[in-house]
Amino acid sequence: MQTTPTADGWSSRLGFVLAAAGSAVGLGNLWRFPYVAGENGGAAFVLIYLACIALIGLPILASEVAIGRRGACHDPIGALTSLSRAAGASPRWGLVGLLGGTSAFFFLSFYNVVAGWSLVYVWYALRGTAASVPGGATEVFAGLTGNAPLMVALHLAFVVLTGAIVLGGVRDGIERSVRVMMPALLLILLGLIAYGVIETGEFGRAARFLFAPDFSRLTLKSLAEALGQAFFTLSVGVGGMLVYGSFLQESGGIARTAISVAAIDTAVALLAGLAIFPIVFATGIEPSAGPGLIFVSLPNAFVALPGGQWVGALFFVLVVFAALTSTISLLELLVELLREQLGWSRWQAVSRASAGYALVGIAAALSFNVWSDVRLFERGIFDLLVDLTSNIMLPLGGAGFALFAGWVMSRDSLAAELGVGEGWRLSAFRMLARVVAPIGVFIILLAALLQ
Ligand code: TRP
Repeated sequence: MQTTPTADGWSSRLGFVLAAAGSAVGLGNLWRFPYVAGENGGAAFVLIYLACIALIGLPILASEVAIGRRGACHDPIGALTSLSRAAGASPRWGLVGLLGGTSAFFFLSFYNVVAGWSLVYVWYALRGTAASVPGGATEVFAGLTGNAPLMVALHLAFVVLTGAIVLGGVRDGIERSVRVMMPALLLILLGLIAYGVIETGEFGRAARFLFAPDFSRLTLKSLAEALGQAFFTLSVGVGGMLVYGSFLQESGGIARTAISVAAIDTAVALLAGLAIFPIVFATGIEPSAGPGLIFVSLPNAFVALPGGQWVGALFFVLVVFAALTSTISLLELLVELLREQLGWSRWQAVSRASAGYALVGIAAALSFNVWSDVRLFERGIFDLLVDLTSNIMLPLGGAGFALFAGWVMSRDSLAAELGVGEGWRLSAFRMLARVVAPIGVFIILLAALLQ
């Protein structure tokens, strides 16, 4: 499609990199990566994780961006259909885009609920709430999840925040906001690390927990964990990166850009570990798993440390920024699908998509309290959404995008998009997209089924 000067799009490559890195950096980096790495043998796990990023995550990320920029539309269905027509392949490849959009819708519904928690935790941290109740942060967290009106209100507040940014469009809404939030996020993270080094005296222990290789703790499950994390953290598989790529107007190679995005994401995950564990260790708290790490262990640590109120509040502002730069990419994907496929205006698409996922999110929020006994496939609504999207739909979508780039797009068009020449790098990329990434996905699916 010819882009006119007034058409929406990134003002520069940096705009794209910040937005894509913003999508990738999220709750996955802040709570999931540090504890999974710690529990699976530290550096030994980090090495496998890096390999998974390079061999599976990165090829899928580059595939999505390449399809997006080459396609004739800004949405995954349109992009895949137009490219398969041009290549003489079945337009049914568009179904991969439909799968992506569906996954994004459900993913956003539960992710936004957790994002909403971070808003109230800024307040809790400032007030030192965990110190004022007998059970500490455990009780505060239970109080929050048990409070249905509060859970719904926080969720809706985040829905509105996300919608307000996406309503502004790609350049004036999304790019403008990530240009503020991403640098702020990095500054806060570095500040927290400095605090850990100066105030806690536990930086060395945290670094050992994360980086000292303990190969005896590596199991076959660690491989599945590393694969799953590589997938989750790069935001691939729903087509969000495809949409962001479709707004890249200049013609430079994509391979390097995708590497920068993955490198920023990985750096933030490692830095998050170095920021979080000194604080957790300083108070003698065991690094717990899952949401408990940032919503229970850390708040308990903050109330026990000097200046913890402010440090804690800053930490949760960091969580808000990380989550918000991810939710806007998910909503933007839905908005482009609705605009291109149904001809809706941006306002119609933002308001209707937001209303839709807000409703499913309310069900997810209520599954912590009034609807806690609603169970499907032995899970509550929230857990079902998490497992169904992260373990099944995202990996399937990711395999779809990689297979499309590897098998359907011609060598020439792929070479032109990636900017890596016609030599061994192109062949290596195609090999990864055609075979290696889909095998990785197969292992994730298998691990999910055997659980
Ligand atoms: N990468 C995000 C995180 O680490 C989560 C995520 C997964 C995501 N898939 C996505 C975000 C798709 C936006 C779009 O928290």
